[in-house]
Amino acid sequence: MEERRVPAHIGIIMDGNGRWAKQRGLSRSEGHKAGAKVFKQICDYAGEIGIKVITFYAFSTENWKRPPEEVSSLMDLFREYMHEAEDRKAENLQKGMRMHFIGHREGIPEDLLNLFDTSEEESKDADKYDVNIAINYGGRLEIVDAVKQLGEKIKSGELDPADITESDISAHLYTAGQSDPDLIIRPSGEYRLSNFLTWQSAYSELWFSDILWPDFTPADLDKAIDDYNKRNRRFGGV
Ligand code: FPP
Repeated sequence: MEERRVPAHIGIIMDGNGRWAKQRGLSRSEGHKAGAKVFKQICDYAGEIGIKVITFYAFSTENWKRPPEEVSSLMDLFREYMHEAEDRKAENLQKGMRMHFIGHREGIPEDLLNLFDTSEEESKDADKYDVNIAINYGGRLEIVDAVKQLGEKIKSGELDPADITESDISAHLYTAGQSDPDLIIRPSGEYRLSNFLTWQSAYSELWFSDILWPDFTPADLDKAIDDYNKRNRRFGGV
């Protein structure tokens, strides 16, 4: 039997926390709290099985439309995680986790931005795997942000518009320097990408399931990887 290939980069849309909570008569915030526990578990497991980059969609640019109590409970959950991660700094470094917070900075509370910056700085020499947490992330806004940077380079004469390549766009995204996702996982029975890794997902394999995120286990990740192994990736070739 051929050895199983572990995708280098996996993206995960952590969906279904609200429905999970509703089924149990709990608040939506309780659902997100349960989702955060699973996020930590999957994050560790990804490193153990040799995934090189894992990107979690934690808060989209559209999620600001949610009720203010829900938005603020999510921000509190991110804060809590950041403080906890700071306490477990040595352990996370040991696991080789290099942290990246990807998304549009404007709109995120200043104290959280500082916690993100500290975590990125303190983990920058870890070399086992990259953990991207997408907060205030929108794939289209990410492309707009990249285009603005390229525009500045054109204005200063550093770049000729005729020379712009796909690699130039990739190099100005929040994921610059990382490989594109091989596999994107979306639980909770929805079949769309919802503005997640819009540019980077051009050739990603997609895996959907009815499991709600707080019920997602390492065994489910293994199942997604097993299914990925059955896919024939041609990248437009034959
Ligand atoms: C979508 O489910 C989920 C979110 C908008 C939040 C995801 C965030 C977490 C799982 C917490 C992650 C924590 C850290 C520390 C990164 P939904 O609320 O839309 O579910 P529903 O569709 O069932 O209502």
